[in-house]
Amino acid sequence: MFTINENYLQLNESYLFSAIAKKINEFTLLHPDADIIRLGIGDVTLPLVPSVIDALHKATDEMAKKETFRGYGPEQGYEFLREKIAEIDFQQRGVSVSADEIFVSDGSKSDTGNILDILGEQNSVALADPVYPVYQDTNMMRLGVDDRLILLSCTAENDFLPQLPDEKIDVIYLCYPDNPTGTVMTKPQLKQWVDYALKHRSLILFDAAYEAFVTEDDIPRSIFEIEGADRCAIEFRSFSKNAGFTGLRCSYTVVPKALKTIASDGREVSLHKLWNRRQSTKFNGVPYIVQRAAEAVYSPEGQQQTREMVEYYMQNARIIREGLLSKGWAVFGGINSPYLWFKCPGTNDSWQFFDRLLNECHIVGTPGIGFGANGEGYFRLTAFNSLDKTREALERIKNW
Ligand code: MLT
Repeated sequence: MFTINENYLQLNESYLFSAIAKKINEFTLLHPDADIIRLGIGDVTLPLVPSVIDALHKATDEMAKKETFRGYGPEQGYEFLREKIAEIDFQQRGVSVSADEIFVSDGSKSDTGNILDILGEQNSVALADPVYPVYQDTNMMRLGVDDRLILLSCTAENDFLPQLPDEKIDVIYLCYPDNPTGTVMTKPQLKQWVDYALKHRSLILFDAAYEAFVTEDDIPRSIFEIEGADRCAIEFRSFSKNAGFTGLRCSYTVVPKALKTIASDGREVSLHKLWNRRQSTKFNGVPYIVQRAAEAVYSPEGQQQTREMVEYYMQNARIIREGLLSKGWAVFGGINSPYLWFKCPGTNDSWQFFDRLLNECHIVGTPGIGFGANGEGYFRLTAFNSLDKTREALERIKNW
């Protein structure tokens, strides 16, 4: 008889957002007329901006002609997109990242999970608690419940920012602006982690999917703004939230050429080479038309239009934040992030609060416990719905 990867049996039966979708479906069957407002999963609602749509049409037409049709592209992404990313996301901001350090992909969820392919199983791995569940689940798929997985406690007392570990940890996941708590690290705070990683020869897996939502000057948008980070970090970036690509799928991962480690035989090994080997073997690249759409994000019009999109969502974030604060609730995030994190009023059970909010206000959010034990008693709302629905949701909550 064949066997299975039994580590899967140790996972929660379903992925957090699948479990929530199931609950909403059950509720809708019982209350077909309820006007449900979804502030749960971080999925965007605005349509793609005109520059992106134009690029999609143009690229689609190219695929219809013999002379311009494209088959397999480079697994790492087309040069036209990698060059633009390097120039506009990094070099113009004074950060040294070159086009060939960028690997275009179909999503940060995939890459933050797949990166484990090139890392050893013996690594100790630190994750914040609460945390984006993909980091924890993908590690558990490899290790099961294992004491190599270390949770860094984030609570209201430390403003939901992890403390540097006392011991040496090999791999550390950081996500800033953070999902789920919406908190951010300043440059000096992030520098402490880079210094720690350089000292202990640790690797930081830095998820910057929400960098476009940073509004304050002293908050880094890339870990590579910190000196030495190119020797200890990999950064994940996405077009999902800053340009509304959740349905189109495009992201990229920066693996600096300076990032090296020592193999068990004493050889120095480049992670860039390993990731290149992994991607060219297991991945055939992002569709040409999608990469042309991502390129359009970097045109002057694309930059302006996507900035307006982000500002629209941040207006929602302000409305949610002010509404929750006016109830006297303890609120985190929403200033440099599309996520708002707050203490559930009157209960320490975040699923119970989920049910009450759904049943009594017809609003969907995400229970904090879904992100880890420290999330119990907390709740997350997203700013990704429309302005009207966000206003309506907050009116309902204010009158609750
Ligand atoms: C979330 O709601 O946490 C997001 O949808 C995460 C993701 O982009 O996968």
